Amino acid sequence: MRRSPGCRWPAHLLPKRLNETLAVKGGQKAVTYPASKHNQSSRWPLFGEAEEKAVLQVVRKPSYGPIGLLESDWKEYFKVPYVKAHYNGTSALASMFFALDLPPGSEIMVPSYTFFATIVPMRLFGLVPVFVDINPRTLNFDLEDAKKRLTKNTKAIIPVHWMGLPCEMDHICDWAKEKGLIVLEDAAHAHGTRLKDKLMGTWSRMSIFSYQCSKPLPAIEGGMGMYQTQEDFDRATTFGHYKVPGVAKDSPYHKYVGSGLGLKLRMHPMAAALARCQLQVLDKRNAMITAQIRRLNEQIVQLPGLYDQAPRPDMQRLYYAWNALFIDEAEAGMSREACVKALQAEGVRARAQFYTLQHKLPLYSEGQWWHHKPLIPELPGSDKANATTISLPVFTSEHPELIDQYVKAFQKVWAHRKELGKA
Ligand SMILES: Cc1ncc(COP(=O)(O)O)c(C=O)c1O
Repeated sequence: MRRSPGCRWPAHLLPKRLNETLAVKGGQKAVTYPASKHNQSSRWPLFGEAEEKAVLQVVRKPSYGPIGLLESDWKEYFKVPYVKAHYNGTSALASMFFALDLPPGSEIMVPSYTFFATIVPMRLFGLVPVFVDINPRTLNFDLEDAKKRLTKNTKAIIPVHWMGLPCEMDHICDWAKEKGLIVLEDAAHAHGTRLKDKLMGTWSRMSIFSYQCSKPLPAIEGGMGMYQTQEDFDRATTFGHYKVPGVAKDSPYHKYVGSGLGLKLRMHPMAAALARCQLQVLDKRNAMITAQIRRLNEQIVQLPGLYDQAPRPDMQRLYYAWNALFIDEAEAGMSREACVKALQAEGVRARAQFYTLQHKLPLYSEGQWWHHKPLIPELPGSDKANATTISLPVFTSEHPELIDQYVKAFQKVWAHRKELGKA
């Protein structure tokens, strides 16, 4: 949702709010939606009768059947040749890094602005993360920054589609091809999203999804690995599975069917049953939630100095967990802290959003855990994201009145922004 140049709130709308005292200064709140309905508006996960029935069926007739069925459904949805369900996204990532079969010391480019699981399992196979910055207006992989960090040891690259916004995989894949890098995807936040009508997760040699409870396709806990080749599938599944019907008879890994390699990363069949139900409603629900957020964001990003995590026109994104907005304090004429405080007083569930940057954690500066110690870089884009992001809840059902009240609250705060100034 890009702001078209020169397209701002019509001037007559802002002065109307000027008479109203800000709630932070003792005035009436702009958001009067009842608290219980407000809570309900971002309820997650959305499980209903179908999920209850599916789980009950597993309780009444215990079997691993739902796992194979989920794998079939997933293959059908993504039109990919190989998938393997895992007990979470983290274990699918570990299996994927194992499947790479790269020599120890090989480097993988990865954003620091991500959950630990995109990075830490690399350690188990002697792989070394190269921390790459993000674009603070998309929260996604910054290809220009990656270009500066390429070394002779760099072998792969793993962008993360943060909060359901696809990375620019077309540009990333072009560059990776030129440099001979393997492309992977962490699609833990991006179930059913697309770039140029191609599903995220299918842009790369291997990708993973998470079904953890907060995710866009929740099964309470669970994950999926997706592979373009039989070889990757064989190796990834052998890492954490000892009974895999799909491992090719002539594969060097076939002899390990029966023993595996020491881990058991099988998904719980109840989670698989839940995930199957959720997959059926995924596209419709993504579209409904996206329409809600768009209705809100398209109005509020007209305010000076306020931006959102904008998709390119050829992207089909989803929203989950947070609706990320960005404030340019100079342009807005107030600090993020003052703005958030005023919005909260109006009843908006806004937060000054901070996300832990992995490269700043002790694990990465202690050489004992790594084949060679990762470089700890300066990542100004990631720091800027943490200094400028304001997150709003994602409305997971239709609440037009609440959205109108949020818009009113933003207008009101912006109309008073000069007096709010700094926090
Ligand atoms: C970007 C990202 N990748 C991977 C994972 C790991 O998924 P799981 O929680 O299913 O292990 C998460 C989970 O939060 C995540 O946010």
